[in-house]
Amino acid sequence: MVQITFLSNGGKTVEAPANSNLLRVSLREQGGIPFKCGGGLCGTCKCKVEAGREHTDDVKQKERRHLSPEELASGYRMACQTFVNGNVSVSW
Ligand code: FES
Repeated sequence: MVQITFLSNGGKTVEAPANSNLLRVSLREQGGIPFKCGGGLCGTCKCKVEAGREHTDDVKQKERRHLSPEELASGYRMACQTFVNGNVSVSW
């Protein structure tokens, strides 16, 4: 199991199986990450991995349409496109 901390939701911390999709965990556990499409199209689920970036999978092409190289470099991801295999803390 991994721990996911939703910093913009009062630091709410939940557990999830390794390699979970960040937005799906947020939906299941009411983590509070904003979303609309759930499919990598709208960009609403933009969030920042403040800690544990090394525990996220590779950035997807869909994310590059919504996030600038600078944003990607500072840890921004799209939650619906991001899978976590270790503890992370995320803000939005
Ligand atoms: S919810 Fe639309 S891109 Fe992630």
